[in-house]
Amino acid sequence: MNNYDEVIKNFNLWYHDLKDLHKFEQKRKEFLEYHSKNGVTRVQIEPTNRCNYNCIMCPIDELEKEKVKYDMSFDDFKIIVDKLPSSVTNICLSGLGEPFLNKDYIQMAKYAKEKGFYVEVYNNGSLFDSSIIPYIDEVNFSVDSPDDKLLLEIRKGVSIDKLFDNIKKAVKEKEKHYFHVNINFTANYKNYQNIRKLYDLANILKIDKLHIQATSNNYAIDSVKYQHFKEFVDKNNLIDWEHIVNSYCKDDSFSLTIWYPRKMQGFCSWGFSNIYVTKNCDIIQCCQKVTKPLVFGNLKQSNFNDIYNSKEMCRFREKHIRQVNIPLCEECPN
Ligand SMILES: C[S@@+](CC[C@H](N)C(=O)[O-])C[C@H]1O[C@@H](n2cnc3c(N)ncnc32)[C@H](O)[C@@H]1O
Ligand code: SF4
Ligand code: SF4
Repeated sequence: MNNYDEVIKNFNLWYHDLKDLHKFEQKRKEFLEYHSKNGVTRVQIEPTNRCNYNCIMCPIDELEKEKVKYDMSFDDFKIIVDKLPSSVTNICLSGLGEPFLNKDYIQMAKYAKEKGFYVEVYNNGSLFDSSIIPYIDEVNFSVDSPDDKLLLEIRKGVSIDKLFDNIKKAVKEKEKHYFHVNINFTANYKNYQNIRKLYDLANILKIDKLHIQATSNNYAIDSVKYQHFKEFVDKNNLIDWEHIVNSYCKDDSFSLTIWYPRKMQGFCSWGFSNIYVTKNCDIIQCCQKVTKPLVFGNLKQSNFNDIYNSKEMCRFREKHIRQVNIPLCEECPN
């Protein structure tokens, strides 16, 4: 379970080696070759963009203003899944929003699982229904602080008891089903300091993996909130990633993955091997820019490969390969 040595190796790679321009370009070439070669392997499908929380770092409130909140129908979900190319192995059944709000959510997971996909679920822990477990391969619960006060401040609307009861319930189900229970931690300058306490909590809860990711500014650039949020994200430069890495111990019982900020620029797999589909079946740029995204096509009107090989999508990938500035990618940690 523990991957201490790998964590240290990755930290050295992303924080030290990649400062060397030659190593950066070499790694980037290998990365893009890998993600171009195997076709699309993972598709993220957004079952809803409604949410029962209003977390401080999430652009869900932007959609509130646009009044475009609704759920994907089960029929549309089937259309998407049936059109996926054979290269796809993983379906992530969550986007921006709380997926368990969709009344057909468990049916969607069942459909995807029975088609043979590896099914990933991300949720806020408030509505988790364990009857989904036979149809999923991993569930990720968002926990942004081991400290109740800060958790309430960050994840506005959180029911702490429900969240931890549901994590424990999921872990208990591992006795009967093979699947992974993970925690997702979105790091900001307020919550990273009590990271050791979070690791202790992860050990107590007996989860499989803790994923730590940087907060990104995923508001649309022309939104009023963009500038305001930029100040919050800029303050996250205070995060001591070395402290996060070094607090992880060889005897922690879970594995750790970290998505570093900015250091990933030039290493984006969206539009290559990773595809995002919205609740109305649009294929868009990525999971980071959901509020005013670049739309490549709609799966109810076109076939998957026609959209993937369209001029617009090829141009988008080309820009990533050449690292040409794409305005929509500004402020992205990738
Ligand atoms: C968008 S949520 C959707 C699933 C579910 N509602 C939840 O909160 O887990 C998926 C993950 O994105 C994270 N997230 C939200 N806003 C973010 C931001 N600005 N930057 C990076 N991650 C963010 C959340 O903390 C959560 O772990
Ligand atoms: S992070 Fe998840 S729970 Fe929080 S507001 Fe966004 S979609 Fe909702
Ligand atoms: S904003 Fe651009 S660089 Fe960032 S994840 Fe999306 S496509 Fe990739």
